[in-house]
Amino acid sequence: MRARKGNAVKTVFVINGPNLNLLGKREPSIYGGKDLEAISKDCLQAGEDLGLMVDFRQSNHEGVLVDWLHEAGEQAAGVVINPAGYGHTSIALHDAIKAIAPLPVIEVHLSNIHAREPFRHHTMTSPAVVGMICGLGPTGYILALRALADRI
Ligand code: DQA
Repeated sequence: MRARKGNAVKTVFVINGPNLNLLGKREPSIYGGKDLEAISKDCLQAGEDLGLMVDFRQSNHEGVLVDWLHEAGEQAAGVVINPAGYGHTSIALHDAIKAIAPLPVIEVHLSNIHAREPFRHHTMTSPAVVGMICGLGPTGYILALRALADRI
């Protein structure tokens, strides 16, 4: 079933945090060879298949990510977020996700953060989201979009 209310296609934000603009070149043994533009295209296609309009974004700046979560709270039906390094440190992102409740937010990490350095095992954001996917590479974004489509 398509995630539509009446004829209106719902918009979901896919928000990417710091350093993800370097995907493809950045530590490919950990993050893979796909760049963010290719992941964006896959997400837009998945959105089309699911009946969702995907608004895909990336910023290296914590405050911009907070602003986009607030914007999602006004305009979107759900959010997929890879908070990248800020996931491990940012109470502000945790608070922003809580502030836009009950909007469903799903956290994604390309790598398996639990199999990496201890400082990556915890994220500030995970207690605030409906669910988290990690370790499945770019497929995680698509699975998160499917999960959002089921909820909204
Ligand atoms: C990441 C994992 C984080 O620990 C790291 O800081 C990133 C990327 C991932 O997608 O695997 O920048 O979020």
